[in-house]
Amino acid sequence: MTEKFSLNVNGKTQTVEADPDMPLLYALRNDLGLNNPQFGCGLAQCGACTVHMDGNAIRSCITPISTVGDAKVVTMSGLGTPEKPHPLQAAYVEEEVTQCGYCINGWVMTGAAFLDRNKKPTEAQIKEALTGLKCRCGTHMSIMRAMKRAASIMG
Ligand code: FES
Ligand code: FES
Repeated sequence: MTEKFSLNVNGKTQTVEADPDMPLLYALRNDLGLNNPQFGCGLAQCGACTVHMDGNAIRSCITPISTVGDAKVVTMSGLGTPEKPHPLQAAYVEEEVTQCGYCINGWVMTGAAFLDRNKKPTEAQIKEALTGLKCRCGTHMSIMRAMKRAASIMG
């Protein structure tokens, strides 16, 4: 049976009617039209669906909509705008990271949540923070360059 859920997404409160077990990812993509979080594995294994919940990077494919409550959800389109990007989004452009782009949401959202809390990370800390994310296009070296570039601006 469906219920109504009030979600705070990218600073706006919006209502979604859904089964309580429905993943947050489906609400974001199918009900709210926010297509940055991607469906990759659906099993918390790839990170493509990552969004921020109260500043933490979470995998929306395994987050039931009924557990979101009043938490502030931010997707990549709420992280920054073309006019005012998050420093990591700007660094991705400057380092020309993206190839097919499917995975990039996960790397940016995970990396941004980490850099927002860790102003002067070591390379080892960056690698640990990004553990578990997958990119089939092999952009890992340019992702590291973008993380270091953003860290140097934010630190
Ligand atoms: S789609 Fe959520 S972790 Fe892969
Ligand atoms: S850019 Fe294609 S999977 Fe990462």
